[in-house]
Amino acid sequence: MWGGMSIAHAEMKAEPAYSFNDDGTLVKPEGYREWIYVGTPVTPNDMNNGKAAFPEFHNVYIHPKNFKKWKKTGAFPNGTILIKELVSVGSKSAPSGNGYFMGDFIGLEATIKDSTRFKGEPGNWAYFSFTREGKAPATKAKAMPTDKCNFCHQGFAKDDWVFTQYYPILRAAKPGNGR
Ligand code: HEC
Repeated sequence: MWGGMSIAHAEMKAEPAYSFNDDGTLVKPEGYREWIYVGTPVTPNDMNNGKAAFPEFHNVYIHPKNFKKWKKTGAFPNGTILIKELVSVGSKSAPSGNGYFMGDFIGLEATIKDSTRFKGEPGNWAYFSFTREGKAPATKAKAMPTDKCNFCHQGFAKDDWVFTQYYPILRAAKPGNGR
């Protein structure tokens, strides 16, 4: 029993879902395109007066460790991280018809639930933007002010600050949903 627990603990230590620099900035996560994909909301510029707040496609991922807990409990554990990667609309027609088709990666955002590090934030969620217009994402990001990001998630997200109403994969995996 003790052996098992310490192995589990060692694994957690060896593979943290996220890490912070000494100056409190979040290190840009790596490998997130191989995390669990949960959905792709699209807010195209041309349906938002040419300038959507978060343009185009938003590919959203959750760390596999957090997803495992979500499947078991239907809740986001302390230490959850979700990534939102923005992708431009590359084409508006394809052999399949007219529509919105993915172009290039144009931005990267993250949210983290951490009751130790962000005990002052509503719901203990903090928000980060690595996006740099026209450039590769920054390698680090500091937590955004509460009134820039958190307030809207607090007000409108379905499940603990997370917009599960737009993520069918999370809804289907929630215990009892069976879809
Ligand atoms: C006006 C409301 C609003 C504001 C302000 C806002 N968001 Fe969101 N955010 C949303 C909505 C709605 C979604 C889900 C649908 C979508 O992506 O369009 C979302 C999804 C996300 C996700 C995916 C995980 C989740 O929680 O659902 C991340 C990460 C995220 N936002 C980061 C940010 C960051 C960083 C900021 C501040 C720079 C921010 N958001 C500000 C409304 C908002």
